[in-house]
Amino acid sequence: MQKVIFDTDPGVDDAMALLFLHRHPDIDLLGVTTVFGNASIELTTRNAQFLHKEWGIDAPIAKGAGKTLDPSRVEQHSPTIVHGEDGLGNIGVPLEIDWPLDPREASQFIIDTIRANPGEITIVAVGRMTNLALALQADPEIAGLTKQVVIMGGAFDVNGNVTPAAEANIHGDPDAADIVFTAPWNVIAFGLDVTMKTMMSSDDMAELAKGGDKALTLLSDLSQFYIDFYRQGAGLDGMAIHDSCACVYLVAPDLFKLRSGPVRVVCGGIADGETIQAPDTGRRFVDSPWDGQPSQKVAVGVQPEKVLDVIRVA
Ligand code: BDR
Ligand code: CA
Repeated sequence: MQKVIFDTDPGVDDAMALLFLHRHPDIDLLGVTTVFGNASIELTTRNAQFLHKEWGIDAPIAKGAGKTLDPSRVEQHSPTIVHGEDGLGNIGVPLEIDWPLDPREASQFIIDTIRANPGEITIVAVGRMTNLALALQADPEIAGLTKQVVIMGGAFDVNGNVTPAAEANIHGDPDAADIVFTAPWNVIAFGLDVTMKTMMSSDDMAELAKGGDKALTLLSDLSQFYIDFYRQGAGLDGMAIHDSCACVYLVAPDLFKLRSGPVRVVCGGIADGETIQAPDTGRRFVDSPWDGQPSQKVAVGVQPEKVLDVIRVA
């Protein structure tokens, strides 16, 4: 069993990823930490509580950051046209959900869980990296005690989705993302290079929900707004299942092609939030911001149909 902390901003594709982690027999979901992003921290936390209650998920939820690491930055929420005003496709989630929250801040929950399970924890982070950066700042030793950090974020050899340079999770808090990529732990990043190739069509979604499984019916209901966004905004039939790509990697790593090399995040200027990897090809880029940084892994290839198969089975 893989011990996992899920750091998330639910979020429609986050909800799909959460259900996958909850249901997969090889995954032990130890906790869910929330972060602002697809909606405010109040709404993403409320959405996590709602999904836990609906789906009977008993992993603790710890509420996390509602602002960027650098307080002088303007907070970057996703526009509501992507995930809806409420972050869950405007399905009418009640304002308050009677479901407990862990008393700790998300970053403290992350630190405590890693320290209680040295070398065993996989963090799957699919929102802004703020909670992870806060945890590293408070307790830098956790980097050496963490098995791996699997993230959805970045646009490496392709354009971003917020600006031509930057993907939403990184653009929403570039300073935090740079701290995460340059810490001495193993990061594996699933950016738009692979997630925009991994689309679930509206027929696929309907097929999933057809069997009468109540959790899948809810997932299908809350996905309709997001599917409409892709249809109207990009003329695509289906939705990119960004966050699920990072989760599927845990159980089917061979479906992805990875490239190694240090990663830095541009912080400021017109390329704010751009992710740049210096491939490990022998050239060190001496005296540059990449020199001496840990080599991380970035997904540059994917077998989308097989990823969808893994999700269908779980
Ligand atoms: C990322 O941003 C959010 O809209 C999604 O949940 C995903 O994590 C994609 O850029
Ligand atoms: Ca997300």
